[in-house]
Amino acid sequence: MNQDQLKALVAQAAADYVVANAPEGSIIGVGTGSTANLFIDALAPIKSRLRGAVSSSEAGSARLCGIGVEVFDLGAVTELQLYVDGADEIDPKGAMIKGGGGALTREKIVASVAKEFVCIADVSKLVAVLGSFALPVEVIPMAAPAVARKLEALYPGSQARLRKTKDGAEFRTDNGCPVIDLHGARFSDAAAEETRLNQIPGVVTVGLFAQRGANLLLVGTEKGVEQRRY
Ligand code: 5RP
Repeated sequence: MNQDQLKALVAQAAADYVVANAPEGSIIGVGTGSTANLFIDALAPIKSRLRGAVSSSEAGSARLCGIGVEVFDLGAVTELQLYVDGADEIDPKGAMIKGGGGALTREKIVASVAKEFVCIADVSKLVAVLGSFALPVEVIPMAAPAVARKLEALYPGSQARLRKTKDGAEFRTDNGCPVIDLHGARFSDAAAEETRLNQIPGVVTVGLFAQRGANLLLVGTEKGVEQRRY
């Protein structure tokens, strides 16, 4: 199976998990990215069981609307049973790097009100130590150069690069902010590093999801979908 097939496998497993674990009429949290998109597609046949969804991006909202799932503002809900999303990397404790698609801030916010974070990933996302994937950091625009310098100072040998779009323009998130991608840093104590990086003035969100990591991982492997609880 190729990576896309493994993603489709876990996306379907996550939809099955929703049926088994979210009471009928639930509003669920839905993430962003190619794996989350396949999860949205897998929700289509079971959408009548759901009251709706809270999405972590404009793109996710559009896809949910496209299959006829009502999208709610986060302000309309006090708690979500489940939040289902992909990851760029996940370590043995369930800590993740997220934000490859630039939706890290809304992902962290929506995940924070969910009882359970269900991470869906193909096996290539499993790592012993986070950091091979460049760490996304969303920043206030005027702070970008200062934050980039600070990041490189904190992780000697690392490189902080302002994210660009394919046509070379400065990337902006749904919140209108740039993203710095930090290459060459390693995060063995991801929760402590998340706290440390959150203290830098101008940082909106760091793409380490450790303090609120995954509760359940559905990982797509050649042998099928494996479950890991954290
Ligand atoms: C988007 C994310 C995604 O979950 C992450 O980038 C994984 O994406 P994909 O499922 O396309 O591999 O954090 O901000």
